[in-house]
Amino acid sequence: MLNRKPFVGGNWKMNTDLLSAGALARGIAAELVDRPAVDVAVFPPFPYLLSVNSILRERGAGIMLGAQDVYQKPNGAFTGEVSTEMLKDCGVKCVLVGHSERRHLIGESDDIVNRKLARSLEDGLGVVLCVGETLDQRQTGQTDAVNERQVRLGLADVSAAEMTRVIIAYEPVWAIGTGHTASPADAQDAHQKIRAVLADLYDGEVAASTRIIYGGSVKSANAAELFAQPDIDGGLIGGASLDAVEFLKIVRAAAPAGARHPA
Ligand code: PGA
Repeated sequence: MLNRKPFVGGNWKMNTDLLSAGALARGIAAELVDRPAVDVAVFPPFPYLLSVNSILRERGAGIMLGAQDVYQKPNGAFTGEVSTEMLKDCGVKCVLVGHSERRHLIGESDDIVNRKLARSLEDGLGVVLCVGETLDQRQTGQTDAVNERQVRLGLADVSAAEMTRVIIAYEPVWAIGTGHTASPADAQDAHQKIRAVLADLYDGEVAASTRIIYGGSVKSANAAELFAQPDIDGGLIGGASLDAVEFLKIVRAAAPAGARHPA
């Protein structure tokens, strides 16, 4: 099996202000300079990208700057939107697409998610594609079908070569911000099935090398158990990423990669 480097992302959502975003970035960067075993990214709100970027760069921390969303077209007459060019200008290296809050609160379709993903890859960015079922879908036995559909439609026309820049985040909607976490066994089951979809869409190598991370009420208290599952390659962290100490504990729980994913 290929060795997948764990990835832990902090999705700050519509939280922080200029001062607290800076303090959070400093708190994380101070500790993470020497931790190459885990890829770490933070996803601050758009207005704070530049200041967080300069804090991360000035500390020499190998933390990736991410954006929570992006528009699917190049610069032009799209009032209020933010392009890949602008994000790259601010130091952004990867973007979230298809987060459940965008799918379910803002109304983004699988087609829009796919176009955002394609535009980001075309412009050289990495992408975290978020998928996951609602409570109603879980209770009516649709979990695997929903994940499969969102993965297939989200990745439409994405080549195997481009998949090296794609991470999939399985985030059951009922677990996001609710304090309810999927059990490690349920999360592992969903991840394994998503990996099987990748094998069918591409091949065994893409399936084995693509990182699939879990999101939904991950905390330092449950991270190690989730990350110990063979198909869980890290996490996308919301609430718990707003506290540097708590986030750093979660990052530590994702290392070392070697023990979990022997080459
Ligand atoms: P949560 O959010 O950790 O607050 O549940 C996760 C996410 O939405 O990415």
